[in-house]
Amino acid sequence: MDRYRSLRISLLAALGAAGCSASSTAASGSGESPPVVAIPTASSSATAEAPSPDGEPEPSNPTRTGWVAEKNGNVHRASRVTCDATIDLPACAGTESRLSCKTDADCTEKPHGKCTSGVGQIGTYCGCTYACETDDECGAGQACVCKGTGALRARHSVCAEASCSTDADCSENSCGLSAYFNGCYEKVTLACRTKEDTCRSDADCQKLPRSGGACVARGQKGEKPTWQCGSMSCVIGRPLVISGEARAAKPRARADWRAALDFEVDALSLEAREAISAHHAAIAAMEHASIASFSRFTLQLLALGAPAELVAEAQIASLDEVTHAQVEYAIASRLAGRFIGPDKLPEATARLESDVISFVEALVMEGCVGETLGAAEGQEVLRGVRDDGLRAALAKIAADEERHAALAWKTLQWALGAFGAEAREAAERAFARALVIHGEDPAEGPVENEEFGVLGARTLGARRREVLRSVVGPCLRTLGLVACS
Ligand SMILES: [Fe+2]
Ligand SMILES: [Fe+2]
Repeated sequence: MDRYRSLRISLLAALGAAGCSASSTAASGSGESPPVVAIPTASSSATAEAPSPDGEPEPSNPTRTGWVAEKNGNVHRASRVTCDATIDLPACAGTESRLSCKTDADCTEKPHGKCTSGVGQIGTYCGCTYACETDDECGAGQACVCKGTGALRARHSVCAEASCSTDADCSENSCGLSAYFNGCYEKVTLACRTKEDTCRSDADCQKLPRSGGACVARGQKGEKPTWQCGSMSCVIGRPLVISGEARAAKPRARADWRAALDFEVDALSLEAREAISAHHAAIAAMEHASIASFSRFTLQLLALGAPAELVAEAQIASLDEVTHAQVEYAIASRLAGRFIGPDKLPEATARLESDVISFVEALVMEGCVGETLGAAEGQEVLRGVRDDGLRAALAKIAADEERHAALAWKTLQWALGAFGAEAREAAERAFARALVIHGEDPAEGPVENEEFGVLGARTLGARRREVLRSVVGPCLRTLGLVACS
C-alpha cells in the first residue's frame, strides 16, 4: 500500500516536479565526506566496572578507576582511561550507491578514521566515521567516551561535551555519563551530579509520562548542565532547537491558551486520562515552541535575502502553530480536567545563527525531514481518532503540517540555487545524519491510545521509515541530492 502517496505528490508539486525529473543530477561529487552516523543498536554492553554490591555510589573510593557503573545504572568516570578506537561498523565495500570515501586512507580529518558502509532510507552509502582514544584527541571541553560504556549506543568511542572530566572535578565526586537517545539523536555528555539535580537515576524518571525513563544531563551551551528527566522522544514537527536540543516551555495552570474544543472522555480511567493528557501537553509545548522556531526562521530568511513568498509563508506557518498549540493545550486540559498552558519560553530570543551552513543544516533536520515526518504522523494519528470534533481539529493540524513541510522543501530548493556548493554540501551532510537518526524507533512511551492520538513507538518507527523511503527519498532525487535510479 502506498500510504503516503498524496503527501509525496504534494511535496513534489511544491518542488515543481512530478517525480524524479530528467534534469536531476547525481550528488555533487564535491569530495566532501558526509558524516555517517552509526545506526544505533538496542543492545549495548557496558564495559564499565561491575556495579558496586550495595548499589550505592562509591565515588570517593580511591581504588576505583576508569568508568564505574553503579547498581542503579548510573556510570561515572573515576579517572581518565584510554578507549578502544576500533569502529564496529562495516568497511566500505565500494559497491554502495553513494561513495564519499573508498578506503580508510580517505578519512584523515581526525585520528582513527574509517571509511564505513551504511544503509540509509534512500540506499547504501560510504562515509568517514571517526573514533577516539583519549580526551586530548577530542579538544577543549570534550572527553572521549569509550565504546560500550553505560547506555552509549554508538558503535565506537565518541568525543562528547564534558563539563567535568573525572569525579575529582565535581563537588560531590561524581562526574556522570549521560548518553540518551531521545528518539531523534543520541546526545552524549559528561556532567557533575549535584544537589541541584531533579533526578538521581533513571528510576526517578520511570513513572513520569513522556520522560522516557532516563535521568540525563541537560543545559544551555556555556551553562552548567543539571540532571533532569529526559523527554520521551523528540516530537516531530518544527522544534525550537537551541544548542542542539529541542526547547519548550514548561506547563502551567492557565486558561488563555485553549482552543474551544470539547470531546467525550468518560470511558477513560483517571490514570489513562492523566497519562494521555501529559502526552498532549508535551506536544502542545512543542507546537508552542514552533511559533518561536518559525519566527526565527523568518528572520533568517530575511537575513539571507530570501524571496517574499518564502518569508510570507514562514509568517503564516508561525500563526498556524499558535492554533496548533491552542488545540493541543485544549486536548491536554480536557483530559486532565484542569487548565494547562505554557509557562515562559526564554529560549525564544536565544542568539540566532544566519550563516548558510547552520541555516541549511537546521532546515534539513527540522524542516525537510522533521516537518515531513510530522505531516505524515499527523495523518497517521487521524486514522485512530473517533470523536468528530477532535478529528476535525487534528485534521487541520495535519493539513497545516503538510504545508509546512512543502515550505521547507521549497526553501531548500531556493537555498541550493542561491548558495551553490556550500548549501549543497551542508544539505548532503545533514540528510546523511537525519536519515539514519530518524530510521530508529523512538523510545517506548508510558501510554498508547490511538483513539486519543497517541501512537506506539513501533508504529511510529515503522511509519517514519516508510515516509523516509517513499516521500523524502523522491524529494531528494528531485533536488538532485541523490542520483535518480
Ligand atoms: Fe505544528
Ligand atoms: Fe509545523
